[in-house]
Amino acid sequence: MKEKRSYVIAGNWKMNNNRSQTKGLITQIVPLVPQAGCEVVVCVPFTNLETAIKAVSGTNIKVGAQNVHFEKSGAYTGEISAEMLIEMGVEYVIIGHSERRQYFGETDETVNLRVKAALNAGLTVILCVGERLPDREKGLTNELVALQTKAALIGVTAQQLDKIVIAYEPVWAIGTGKTATSEQADEVCELIRSVIRDLYGDEKSDKMTIQYGGSMNAANAEELLSKPNVDGGLIGGASLKAKDFAEIISCAK
Ligand code: PGA
Repeated sequence: MKEKRSYVIAGNWKMNNNRSQTKGLITQIVPLVPQAGCEVVVCVPFTNLETAIKAVSGTNIKVGAQNVHFEKSGAYTGEISAEMLIEMGVEYVIIGHSERRQYFGETDETVNLRVKAALNAGLTVILCVGERLPDREKGLTNELVALQTKAALIGVTAQQLDKIVIAYEPVWAIGTGKTATSEQADEVCELIRSVIRDLYGDEKSDKMTIQYGGSMNAANAEELLSKPNVDGGLIGGASLKAKDFAEIISCAK
């Protein structure tokens, strides 16, 4: 069943790198990944998008943003619309990252609005879901992740689903060096797949790319990516080093 799906390895640079560092890092990554057996994406700060797009030109690397607003334009100081991203040549956008939910008041409702706006504009969405440690300790992981997934997809058509990648990111594993075990990752990715099956049917759920994210690195990527329901990774810290990022990419085929 895994062969029906495309692996996606995406770097989430978060608020790191200025423009010259962006050019430098992408220039280092490019020659390491031309044979990638997966889609390779770098999600950079808004101010680096233009630099990144120029740097990946003519390569197999795609560029993504890390957030997007749901309105097309208007009085939303500090926000960026999906149309603005598309005009620049951005192809991917991360939506609902736990850092957005935790520090910037992002809710399941605004995540859903952003997902729909991004899809309508033609972006490919990396939709992040995941439980916090207290949720896991209370045995609420499956319910919470299922709810986040369903809420984010309200109003999304089966056809639009083809432009969504779901990233399962347990909040306790992000930036902590505490990776989920490959069994834990696979179990929740399988749960997400079953939610997709209930909502959209077998064919769509078989084809859905579901990433794991949370301290994925060159040492643990192979094991995580070998699991039947894990089809890629959303990589924070390790995506800031060309060699580490390339090693993870080499495990995704
Ligand atoms: P990490 O971040 O790889 O540094 O844990 C992952 C993410 O936040 O997407």
